[in-house]
Amino acid sequence: MAEETDVELEARLTEQDYFRPPAKFVGQANASDPAIYDEVGEFPEGFERYAELLDWDERWDEVFDGSNPPFFEWFVDGKLNASYNCVDRHLDERKNQTALLWEGSEGEQENITYQDLYREVNEMAAALRAQGVEEDDVVTIHLPMVPALPITMLACARIGAPHSVVFAGFSAQALAERVDSADSDYVVTIDGYYRRGEFLEHIEKTDEALDQMDRDPQVLYWTRHDEPTGDVSDDYTNVEYLLEDHRRERVKPVSRDAEDPLFLMYTSGTTGKPKGCQHRTGGYLAYAAATSKYVLDIKPEDTYWCAADIGWITGHSYIVYGPLALGTTSVMYEDTPDYPHKGRIWEIAEKYDVDIFHTSPTAVRMFMKWGEQYPEEYDFDFRHMTTVGEPIQPEAWLWYYKHIGDEDAVIVDTWWQTETGGHLITNLPALEDMKPGSAGKAAPGIEPALVDDRGEELEPASGKAGNLIIKNPWPSMLQTVYGNDERFISTYWADFSDTDSDDWRDWNYKAGDGAVQAKDGYWRILGRLDDVMNVAGHRLGTMELESAVSEVEKVAEAAVAAREDAEKGEVPDVYVVLREGIEPSDAVKQEIVEAVEREIGKFARPSNVIFVDDLPKTRSGKIMRRLLENISNGEELGNTTTLRDPSVPERIREQVQSD
Ligand code: WT7
Repeated sequence: MAEETDVELEARLTEQDYFRPPAKFVGQANASDPAIYDEVGEFPEGFERYAELLDWDERWDEVFDGSNPPFFEWFVDGKLNASYNCVDRHLDERKNQTALLWEGSEGEQENITYQDLYREVNEMAAALRAQGVEEDDVVTIHLPMVPALPITMLACARIGAPHSVVFAGFSAQALAERVDSADSDYVVTIDGYYRRGEFLEHIEKTDEALDQMDRDPQVLYWTRHDEPTGDVSDDYTNVEYLLEDHRRERVKPVSRDAEDPLFLMYTSGTTGKPKGCQHRTGGYLAYAAATSKYVLDIKPEDTYWCAADIGWITGHSYIVYGPLALGTTSVMYEDTPDYPHKGRIWEIAEKYDVDIFHTSPTAVRMFMKWGEQYPEEYDFDFRHMTTVGEPIQPEAWLWYYKHIGDEDAVIVDTWWQTETGGHLITNLPALEDMKPGSAGKAAPGIEPALVDDRGEELEPASGKAGNLIIKNPWPSMLQTVYGNDERFISTYWADFSDTDSDDWRDWNYKAGDGAVQAKDGYWRILGRLDDVMNVAGHRLGTMELESAVSEVEKVAEAAVAAREDAEKGEVPDVYVVLREGIEPSDAVKQEIVEAVEREIGKFARPSNVIFVDDLPKTRSGKIMRRLLENISNGEELGNTTTLRDPSVPERIREQVQSD
């Protein structure tokens, strides 16, 4: 754990007041009976209640099979189709209700009803099949926030082809790596889209990626307008033309085994290569639907807006799969919150009369910086608000509560991860009081605990910091790291499990976060304990950044440290040792920044590049990033006695301070 003592920690985490959920919220909440904790907590049968929210082709024989840990199985031998559950089953009751409400950059609006979605998903499924996509083929989707994205995902789900969505902001190189890693023979992209009102020729990334990958996938592209814009290769297939050949075709949803993979989602870890988290169909969809219902309080008649990007897990679970499984109206917005003005989010909230709003602490801090005059200009009324992705400071929470929620909406602070598929620590909003800065209690059926570095469990609610683990398995946990079971075990299980045991009770999932459980049972997440940073709610591995920087030939060695940033949470500082004979210059800095943009994407751009003569290293040569972090954050230097040259960090510090 961190070097901070528990006393210091307690002092830093001053206790906050509780806020009661408004009576009018409690009266209408989906989860209003505390018995839900006991019912769902009955392991494993309690989770049947979640699976029963879905329509199954065949009911499961067994709720949970823990016989081969940590390869757990859920709803064994059950059969279902995710696209059927998100689309077809709503047609009887609400075919003319809007499923996806899309707001384009220029203020264009598309209301896609469940009937429209049914038609479009079927036609796309037919088109994909005609292009050769078969059950279990991985389809890589590199699309921005346009309706084509959820339509393509659901079309893949319909024919049983797992999708691997690569966030549109990722670079060509990152796309290439993910196509190769997922053994994918299909890439679905688009000619372009709008960012701050400008048309970005997105398809260029695929052009470039094709030169960098080992595989030779077929490329299909949607168009942002009726006709392709810009330069598009003749080798690619235009989806809109293709769909002309499949008008009114219907594709029977493939009955998938509950354990068949629904999708892969790549995420950063502590080593250079991103990992493909593999999610199952039944357990994932059941858990995403149930948490959408009980945590987000979604009802079919609501207009729900999660202002995240579908290219990350938040958008998968809580823009597409959870909300559509419940048959609600889910809003999608193409552009940034400040385009064309800083009131854009609130303008959209007013225009569509949004009931439930979902965003990140980074966004809240940005709204707070812009000021309350923007939300005040618009007439909107949220019943429920969510934060996700990083710890929220009580100050930002209080601003959100007051200026966006009008002291009249509940807030849930939801802790989870790409790997967990859905919320694990968060309050059920009508059943627990809110406490700013705390994620709250464990979700029903979830058993978090803290262990020290030797794996000894801490007393529950001790107020002491520890490594966060999850004891019992849950239905939406990742199945494995795609193609790499060993990495799955070493990353998530080996540290705090008895890996020789075949009793699932001896296996504990390691979250990689530090946390504290206060006396009232509320959990406060302290942040990552491994070399993973959280930049504006996006997870970035320091190793990935370092290997991008090392691509620059002039660089001899590089280390990345997370610097705390008032707005983005954390930003990367890069410490660089140049090769003999190379002089530090702005041109070299530029080259380094460009390498990161090229290898990962613009969103990962380092905020500082610091040229140094040497990096702090232990005698065995391990770089002590924690000392660099101390320097970046203007903190006291931690223990330097194990260093090969203990004077190095002090020299770097003097240099940074004089810059
Ligand atoms: C990491 C997971 C889960 C969707 C978005 C991020 C941090 C997530 C919270 C929260 C404090 C949080 C953790 C976690 N995190 N939610 N409510 N409070 N920290 O998914 O990219 O997989 O990142 O985000 O550090 O491990 P992700």
